[in-house]
Amino acid sequence: MAEPRLRVWLARPLFEDVTARLDAHFDVMRTSVEDRYPPAAVAEHLREVDGALVTLSEQIGAEEIAAAARLRAIANVAVGYDNLDLPALTAAGVLVTNTPDVLTETTADFGFALLMATARRITEAERWLREGHWDRWSFDRMLGADLHGSTLGILGMGRIGQGIARRAAGFGMRVLYHNRKRLPVETENDCSRARYVGFNELLSQVDHLMLVLPYTAQTHHVIDAAALAKMKPTATLVNLARGGIVDEPALADALAHGRLAAAGLDVYEGEPAVRPELLALRNVVLTPHIASASPATRRAMVALAVDNLIAALGCGPDAGRPSAPVNAELLKR
Ligand code: GLV
Repeated sequence: MAEPRLRVWLARPLFEDVTARLDAHFDVMRTSVEDRYPPAAVAEHLREVDGALVTLSEQIGAEEIAAAARLRAIANVAVGYDNLDLPALTAAGVLVTNTPDVLTETTADFGFALLMATARRITEAERWLREGHWDRWSFDRMLGADLHGSTLGILGMGRIGQGIARRAAGFGMRVLYHNRKRLPVETENDCSRARYVGFNELLSQVDHLMLVLPYTAQTHHVIDAAALAKMKPTATLVNLARGGIVDEPALADALAHGRLAAAGLDVYEGEPAVRPELLALRNVVLTPHIASASPATRRAMVALAVDNLIAALGCGPDAGRPSAPVNAELLKR
């Protein structure tokens, strides 16, 4: 008798022509709507399947997999995976994969867009114009911070941080970075001759600070009131990483009281909720977690997640060897 086909859950309707490749290998449980799943609904779906393709909106931990006896793989359509409780999934033998590389350049582009919009007050100026305030040209209206000739700080010098650093040369910026470890000199040279500095030096020296580090227990609120107090009051802060890296009430307070010039945020601690104190400020640019959102990149992310899931469940040309495993130790068992 033929083996029963493996089952997978596709948590979102994502690029149908790409996800159709799953059908060659699996019975696919699909949804046609962009639902928010309460934890019980996530658990209910996972109970039935061998694998799942999910996005950052799905939070999966010990409770959600408690009854998922068949579950062997989760393909996350994101490079970050803080929506997944990695120790719990690893302990249960569930292989997790992510989507690095394919989103690096698009995200780095967006980092610069957000930095420029923030430093040069683009959204504030547009809002002011649309509100009908512009009755005469004025020499000193909406003065903003220069990028050229300034010092860019990058906290977290992984692939995206390096993409941002490479772009900085085009703007004539000096680049400082802080990372868990220093990069090889050749990589630093490729990254606009970026210079490794300590965390406190980074905070105090830079005119613009980009946050592109992973969110972990160690990086929770690393940008808190004390860190913000070390920054120049004229500085700009951009967060492309995860909201939980920044103590948002402390940030709002610094922005409201002139201890920091401006912030550009693509991510929030309780997203999609955004704190009212941030919404109330004029010197903050707020975007809805869209740094990797170009059609080609979003499509490439889904394609990589599909390949990861097929391989992780032992099918296709790379059976057993997904290209982007997160808990790769499970592959060695
Ligand atoms: C987006 O935030 C990602 O982690 O891919």
